[in-house]
Formats: sequence, structure tokens, C-alpha cells
Amino acid sequence: MWPDRRLLDLLHIEHPIILAPMGGAMDWELTAAVAEAGGLGSLPCMMHTPAQAREMVRQLREATKRPISLGFFCHQAPEQNNAREAGWRDRLAPYYAEFGLDPRAPVPAPLRAPFNDESCDMVVETKPNAVSFHFGLPDAALVRGHRGVFLSDDISTQVGTFALVPQVVDAVKVPVVAAGGIADARGIAAAFALGACGVQLGTAYLHCPESRISAPHRKALANAKDNSTVLTNVMSGRPARGIVNRVIRELGPISDIAPAFPSAANALAPLRAAAEKQGSGDFSPLWSGQAAALGRAVPAGELTRQLAEAALARLRTLSK
Ligand SMILES: Cc1cc2nc3c(=O)[nH]c(=O)nc-3n(C[C@H](O)[C@H](O)[C@H](O)COP(=O)(O)O)c2cc1C
Repeated sequence: MWPDRRLLDLLHIEHPIILAPMGGAMDWELTAAVAEAGGLGSLPCMMHTPAQAREMVRQLREATKRPISLGFFCHQAPEQNNAREAGWRDRLAPYYAEFGLDPRAPVPAPLRAPFNDESCDMVVETKPNAVSFHFGLPDAALVRGHRGVFLSDDISTQVGTFALVPQVVDAVKVPVVAAGGIADARGIAAAFALGACGVQLGTAYLHCPESRISAPHRKALANAKDNSTVLTNVMSGRPARGIVNRVIRELGPISDIAPAFPSAANALAPLRAAAEKQGSGDFSPLWSGQAAALGRAVPAGELTRQLAEAALARLRTLSK
């Protein structure tokens, strides 16, 4: 038995393991596999229109009747800054030349829309068991009764999971889910020892065959070491953790010319496509947590069950 059942009872799940919503890295199949295995499957909705997200939820619900969560971005949409965009494209122009790409050709602007009234309607209609937000919280009117703060942009004060979890547990009365750098049974048991009543895993599930990452990303994860990742704003315009590649090495990891999130990714997209065609992740976002090296390429359902069983066994040993 899990020592703290609050999250299990709240979400009606069997194991206190949440699959992280990972925009651009997965679709509903990974969500369904984790949900069917008894964890909470999250579905990233941040790179889809509400209509597309509705359709994904429909497919997911056909594959599983188990509890699910939907994930959204909640950033402030950036003001158009033409000078900054032009500066970024100038900085990338030598790479465009290297791949024989036209540096003046229009670049795609894939959808990364913040949560809004329309997405809220979609949530009300599809009734997920949980929703999660990234880069901020929705307007008060969209989350009646809840309150929150926005996280700082200052990456020099980022707190590690081990130090953060017990301090959050002390500060709040609601169930706490630990996330970041947890990828095996030891990490799950440690999170419970620190007072969390659930864990959210992202990178560990990227290794699974059901994830939808590029071949270079999969390879980079398989070869990752403890010090392979860095916090960078080069890939998207906002600091996030990823495996170091050429563009991060040469322009970052933090660049003051990268346009605000999510625009920085747009001008990188043609370079990413050209490099990936050659099997290279030099211009791809190789998002990853710090425990990538602990991951194993097993199917997501099997991974969820194995993690739960091994974490329970470890917690039993610790409590003796
Ligand atoms: C490839 C990838 C994409 C991610 N995309 C999102 C996202 O779109 N929205 C979000 O809230 N979190 C996103 N995250 C963060 C995860 O939700 C989660 O908090 C994090 O992965 C936990 O750390 P771990 O990877 O060390 O397990 C992403 C993480 C990865 C690895």
C-alpha cells in the first residue's frame, strides 16, 4: 500500500505516477498506455487548437476509460517585435547558408497558444480528471476559487527537487506532486520520503516506444549522461532544460537576442528540418530532464507498472 493515498483517492488512479504533458513529444497513445497501466496519463494540448485537442481527447477516450489530465500553456503571448525577430534571423543566417536555405523565406509559426476562454470551454466539455498549466496560471475568471503566483524567470534561483519538495510540503495543505529528475523507483520512494504523495515523470517516458520524438532526440537521450543537459532559452525563447547541441553550444545556453517565447523556435524550424533529414539534432529541441540516463526503452504501460511495484518494494524496505 502507498503510504499516502491522497492523490490516488483524489484522481481515482491506482499508482501515484503522472505522465508529464510533453508538448511536441507525444500524442494520445502514450497517455492511453500510462492510464491503462493505472497511472495518470496527461495529454499535452498546448500545440493544438481547441478543435484538434477535442479530437485527440475523443481518440484517447476510445482507447481508455481511465482518468486523464490535460496540459496547457499559460504564457503571456509576446508582443510582435520585428527588430528582435530580424536580429535573431541575422544571427541564424550563416546556418541557413550552410544548409542552402533562403534566410528571407517566411518561417512557420506553429501554434503555442495560451489557455483562453475557448480552451476553457473544451475542458468543461471533455471533463478531464485534472488539468495542468505551464508558464503561469490562467486568468482568475477562468479558475474561479483558485489562486496562484507566477514563477520567476530568474534561472539563477532555480531550486532542485530534493530541496524544494519538503519546503512546499511544509508550506501548503494540498497534496504535493514532485517533478523533475525522477526516473526510477529510488526517485519515487525519495519523493514520498520528502512528503510528496505523487510524482510526475517526463523524460523517463520519452524513452518509451510510444513517445513521438525525433530520431536524433531518441539517440541523444539514449547517450545522455548526468551532465548532458543545460537550461537554455535558445530553442524556444524561454529557459527550459535540454541536451546540449550545436546551436545551444554556439549561441547559448542563454542568449539575449533570442526572441521571446515561443517565437525563437520559428526561425529555427527550417534548420531543424534540414538537420534532422541528415540525422542530426543540432537544431532540434532535445528537451530532457537531468535523469535521462536512468531511463529505459520499455513500453509505457510496463514501465508504469514496474516503477510502481519497485517503488512500493523500496518504501516497504525503508519503513522496516
Ligand atoms: C520533451 C519535453 C516536453 C515538455 N513539454 C512540456 C509542456 O509542453 N508543458 C508542460 O507543462 N511541461 C512540459 N515538460 C515538462 C514536464 O511536464 C515535466 O514537468 C518534466 O519533464 C519533469 O521532469 P523530468 O523530465 O526530469 O521527469 C516537458 C518535458 C519534456 C522532457
